[in-house]
Amino acid sequence: MPKTTVVLLPGDGVGPEVAHEARLALELLAPDVELEEQLLGGAAIRATGTPLPDETLAACLRAAAVLKAPIGDPEFDAADVRPEQGMLRLRAELDAYANLRPAVSAGVDLLIVRELVGGIYFGARGTRADGTVYDTCEYHPSQIERLVRRAFALAAARRGHLLSVDKANVLETSRLWRRVVDGVAAEFPSVRVEHMLVDNAAMQIATDAARYDVLATENMFGDILSDLAAAVTGGLGLAPSASLSDSGPGIFEPVHGSAPDLAGRGIANPAAMLRSTALLLEHGLGRLDESRRLVRAVDRGLALAPTPDLGGTATTAELGEAIRAELALDGAPAGPRPGSGAP
Ligand code: IPM
Ligand code: MN
Repeated sequence: MPKTTVVLLPGDGVGPEVAHEARLALELLAPDVELEEQLLGGAAIRATGTPLPDETLAACLRAAAVLKAPIGDPEFDAADVRPEQGMLRLRAELDAYANLRPAVSAGVDLLIVRELVGGIYFGARGTRADGTVYDTCEYHPSQIERLVRRAFALAAARRGHLLSVDKANVLETSRLWRRVVDGVAAEFPSVRVEHMLVDNAAMQIATDAARYDVLATENMFGDILSDLAAAVTGGLGLAPSASLSDSGPGIFEPVHGSAPDLAGRGIANPAAMLRSTALLLEHGLGRLDESRRLVRAVDRGLALAPTPDLGGTATTAELGEAIRAELALDGAPAGPRPGSGAP
């Protein structure tokens, strides 16, 4: 059997610290998976002058999946070549268009499905002679349709409700979005569709997230709403994401950024990175059993050794270690430990 290779991108800021915990957990849980480390973002600019070196892209394209820690460094804020350009290009090159961002807490089980390779992030941009700077939001119907179809399929397999978020009272791309959603809806009679304007959706998520099941939206609205959803379900330290294409490798990464203020202090919460690793095991490698074990271990580890963002005092390494201890217990050949539920 050919070896399964996962590319690990340690990234910037707290990235290498949380990536290290993901490596240790994966080595314990899936020792046959080979981790290939590559540079992306600020670290790549410093070493090679470009945020997505050819070698990194080639490795990602031939991998089974990509496990990515956050990138971004204030050092490059005013530069022409910036870390974020590398990750946006990586998303586009892998065509990882369907960004799944689950936000789960007591009573809330919301899945944000964010379009990831279109919209204002990728539209025409520039500066006019008079000094005006512009970014444009563009969508082809096919880009919306494939994303929306995935969101419907996910809703059909969950609680059967799809909240489609747009700004159709103002934007042409949003009116197109609505038409496409209504068209695809016919294929999924079991799913109830609700359209909502993005400003109202922000308020609803802040006040009543429990009402919603799957939320589908375009790239930038999804960026903003997913931080909000993370905040109302325990914070950014806990929120994972999966970015999937139709056939190639997916990208699995925390929703949070590189948190330069926390970098090097050993106190970043590795849970979002480890939950992204669990999504990788499930969606990237089809290893549902290991994925569930990791999710359970992260939950228990968080209860035992919370990091400062959750009001605790555990370091990144201490929480990582607590999670590995739970993994070892959960996977022990002697069977489930006393008190643990069946998987
Ligand atoms: C995210 C991040 C990125 C995005 C940035 C770093 C480009 O905020 O994954 O949510 O906006 O997509
Ligand atoms: Mn974001």
